[in-house]
Amino acid sequence: MSPMSVPAPGQEAAQAASGQGPQPVFTEIDHVAIAVNDLPAAIDYYRETFGAVVDHREVVESDGVEEALLKVAESYIQLLTPTREDSPVAKYLERKGEGLHHIGYRVADCAAALEQVTSQGFRAIDAAPRPGSRGTTVAFLHPKDAFGTLIELVQE
Ligand code: CO
Repeated sequence: MSPMSVPAPGQEAAQAASGQGPQPVFTEIDHVAIAVNDLPAAIDYYRETFGAVVDHREVVESDGVEEALLKVAESYIQLLTPTREDSPVAKYLERKGEGLHHIGYRVADCAAALEQVTSQGFRAIDAAPRPGSRGTTVAFLHPKDAFGTLIELVQE
């Protein structure tokens, strides 16, 4: 294979299935999280424009956020708004404005997935899995080591 060539379609999946290289860790996109200033207005927008309705709402005190989960097939749109000024989402809105905040990927075992990432030298925000919304177990990875995306590992 020359340095310019890329794997043939399906080659990487075939390698993973044959036990060469890491097994796939993500089982599903759990949610796409969007930071908003006005949660009721954002919920109205998704309902009136796309017919997406709220499946779950929760205030996560430890993160200083209120969230609304709108179900799309087996995944969610997670609308996020801060509940206090020192919340990381409040700082995010101040710095970057509304928009895509993070992507939650479903995993079978959050601790094992976190270990797989950190054992390769990539940074995590959470040193250990912790409770998320909907009774999930979650861990966030550092966006600087993930090509600019804040990644959340979500175990149901
Ligand atoms: Co999330």
